[in-house]
Amino acid sequence: MIGGRTFGAGAAVLVFLLTSGAAMAADGVAARGEVLAKRWCASCHVVAADQTRASSDAPSFFALTGEAARTPEALAAYLAQPETVHGKMPDLHLSRVEIADIVAYVETLKP
Ligand code: HEC
Repeated sequence: MIGGRTFGAGAAVLVFLLTSGAAMAADGVAARGEVLAKRWCASCHVVAADQTRASSDAPSFFALTGEAARTPEALAAYLAQPETVHGKMPDLHLSRVEIADIVAYVETLKP
């Protein structure tokens, strides 16, 4: 039983760490969103300040946070079905959790 209790305490700490990390970012986890963006979006979009190359017709993620910024809700809606907005951006079939994480990450790029 001692082992079981130790595991329970470890899980509680883990949950605390995960939820406290997400506290700034509504319901998504920005750190996970950053990993996803670098893996799935960086071939076309500039997704981080240290990225120097991307495709020319995809807007930088920093542009998503500027004056014409989409609200987090609008960004999430766009990512759920980009093909309804225009054809150039592929539908990556992101899950709701992945979308929330990416939106949380984009929010961290705001100045
Ligand atoms: C194969 C290239 C490609 C990939 C991969 C890609 N995008 Fe795009 N994306 C584009 C292009 C091109 C546009 C611009 C389309 C246009 O303006 O007609 C775009 C537009 C967007 C826009 C809309 C910007 C605006 O406000 O008009 C968002 C948001 C976006 N992408 C997010 C993402 C995210 C998040 C990912 C990764 C999960 C991603 N994209 C992956 C090519 C890509």
